[in-house]
Amino acid sequence: MKKPDNKGHSEEYFGDFRDHWYNQDFLELMAKRWELKNVNSLLDVGCGQCHWTRIASSFLNKGSHVTAVDSDPKWAKSDEKLEKFFSERDIAFQIEEADALNLPYKDNSFDAVTSQTVLIHIENPLNALREMKRVLKPGGILFCAEPNNLVASVVKDSITAEFRIEEVIEWFTFGLIKEKGKIKQGKGDNSVGDLLPKFFSQLQLKDIRAHLSDKANVIIPPYNSEESKSMLDFRLENYYEDFMKAETKKQFEQFGGKYDAVLKRAEKKMDEYKAELKDATRNQTYYDVSTAVMYLVSGRK
Ligand SMILES: C[S@@+](CC[C@H](N)C(=O)[O-])C[C@H]1O[C@@H](n2cnc3c(N)ncnc32)[C@H](O)[C@@H]1O
Repeated sequence: MKKPDNKGHSEEYFGDFRDHWYNQDFLELMAKRWELKNVNSLLDVGCGQCHWTRIASSFLNKGSHVTAVDSDPKWAKSDEKLEKFFSERDIAFQIEEADALNLPYKDNSFDAVTSQTVLIHIENPLNALREMKRVLKPGGILFCAEPNNLVASVVKDSITAEFRIEEVIEWFTFGLIKEKGKIKQGKGDNSVGDLLPKFFSQLQLKDIRAHLSDKANVIIPPYNSEESKSMLDFRLENYYEDFMKAETKKQFEQFGGKYDAVLKRAEKKMDEYKAELKDATRNQTYYDVSTAVMYLVSGRK
């Protein structure tokens, strides 16, 4: 397991913008479809800072039990905010360090098991899902929220809308090489959401359903809504910063230099894009509908 260090797993991707990924009425509909009112014990695997744990738990009845686990010791501990959230709802909460591939629970332990953007980080997601199914009670529900992140590389914002055809293709190629490189590294598939119905079926889960989140995040001047602000802050703070450059370099290395020219051109383009983004934000001319393809896939044991 990972040793504690300054940065936790996915730390750069945590932040308030994560609270804007879904429409509340859509979540209510999903909770109804998943019959969460009948769930008395829920396990959230790969909880991070518990953004998803809190969303899913908000549909449970008083007196329910929620367990959250993460393999990163930095996230596998509670804090005041979490304690307050669960005690206000009269839900028993525990959080533990555990690996999705080796959950420390007996077979048939939980009414529901879930995860969000975790399987994208796991080399063999089918094995993780098999383990999640093992700890699920017969008749219980497994529901996972996992994306296709590649689509985002062809979604236009007010800057990329001006790209020439060749530039759009390169932008996409860059994203595709990164994604394939990450898979080759054994660090997971950033678009694993596409494959979840297949995995659920291979595990012989019943009543398999797949839905798409109906939320698209808008960034519109003067960027003063909570949503616009948190989305834009995230973009400005993280856009192709050093940690992403280092990650990208390793992903490209998986192809033994074959795509080095693509990387060189893309890095230049990224730097230009970043400068334009800053200018456009300052001038309040930047617009985006930050579409993410987020699948919500469920099945029963
Ligand atoms: C992108 S974050 C998602 C966190 C949370 N589910 C959410 O949606 O806000 C991915 C999380 O999965 C955890 N993770 C990665 N591999 C794991 C594994 N094998 N077992 C358990 N947790 C894992 C990471 O430590 C990280 O906290």
